Amino acid sequence: MKYSFDEKIDRTGNHAAKWEEIGKKFISSDLWPMWIADMDLKTAPEIIEAMREKVEQGIFGYVYRPDSYYKCATDYLERRFGYQIEPSTLINSPGVVPTISILVRLLTKPRDKILIQTPVYYPFAASIRDNGRDVVENKLIKDEKGYYTIDFEDFEKKVSEEEINLFILCSPHNPVGRVWKKEELQKLSELCLKYKVRVISDEIWRDIIMPGYTHTPIASLSKEMENNTITCFSPTKTFNIAGLQASFVTFPRKEEWARFDEELGILDVKRNNPFSLVAFEAGYSKCDEWIDQLIEHLNGNMDYVVNFVSEKIPEVKVRKPEGTYLMWLDFSALGYKKEELSKFMQEKGKIALDDGFWFGENGTGFERMNIACPRYMVEEGMNRIEKAITEWRKDN
Ligand SMILES: Cc1ncc(COP(=O)(O)O)c(C=O)c1O
Repeated sequence: MKYSFDEKIDRTGNHAAKWEEIGKKFISSDLWPMWIADMDLKTAPEIIEAMREKVEQGIFGYVYRPDSYYKCATDYLERRFGYQIEPSTLINSPGVVPTISILVRLLTKPRDKILIQTPVYYPFAASIRDNGRDVVENKLIKDEKGYYTIDFEDFEKKVSEEEINLFILCSPHNPVGRVWKKEELQKLSELCLKYKVRVISDEIWRDIIMPGYTHTPIASLSKEMENNTITCFSPTKTFNIAGLQASFVTFPRKEEWARFDEELGILDVKRNNPFSLVAFEAGYSKCDEWIDQLIEHLNGNMDYVVNFVSEKIPEVKVRKPEGTYLMWLDFSALGYKKEELSKFMQEKGKIALDDGFWFGENGTGFERMNIACPRYMVEEGMNRIEKAITEWRKDN
């Protein structure tokens, strides 16, 4: 491999929230950090080089975006997904979560109902509630093997019986790791068009797809669906540059692009910082090989976890994700209630994970583990979970 993902890392002095804010979020600060979605892996050398050149210029004033900024994003989409969009439909924004929050305000009124598919990335619900709108859940269906699918009957019931005109799709899905099949997206798209439900498609995970799966942008399914969808994406998860804070939104409708642009203007958050500007261009234009090798590494870490669980801790259930670098571990056989499981993992396992119930009530009994790190970190994490389960066995 040209790139190495197994270098020992030391994030001391990195001001890493993942390592140094553990004490704020969990019961103590000495837990093994496998929560929050950033990687304990260095970004691509091509990105570091582009940022180094910027540092060496020594001037970090206001920057403008050259035409090549959006062009490299659309070229990338065409090259990697065969998906063509016009650079002029894109707009830069400070992040996917702020984008969703602004869109919720632009597309709905207070107390409107917005549909999400739980368990799902918890800022979706927070953004709906914090903006004074109401969450309606279309709960995903889980089979006995931990495979999640969409409850289309319930989806249709909700969009036909309740006044819902906005749906936030997570595609690929965090935390359940599904890369939605074209047929599934087709069905969702038919229902949304039939019942006039606008779609915000959060596709921040679209680059991290395991071998054998293909991501389909929902907007690519038809002209009607393209016109009905606002898609959010970003290279921040892909290249581990979330701290640079920038993302892209695709607006098929010019008037909505303009309203969003105006909103960014009011907040005065239209510009990139000098580093996101060069990092994004380098990522989208020079790093395809790095992404392919990253995926190989993540895929190996996932296999390691799946094998470890089946050989050593069969009380736990896990299914290999189709995309993302997040594993959704089912601890429900231990019989703990929500906070009890969280406390157990922290006290007995000395590990920091994202508690399943943060993602919705139907995430109770689960913990989300981030495996985007060198293998030794995954091994340490799994050994700690095994230790906790050994303690549980003594009492059960
Ligand atoms: C589905 C999803 N959307 C958005 C984000 C965060 O996006 P941003 O940092 O651009 O706000 C995450 C981070 O984990 C995510 O999983």
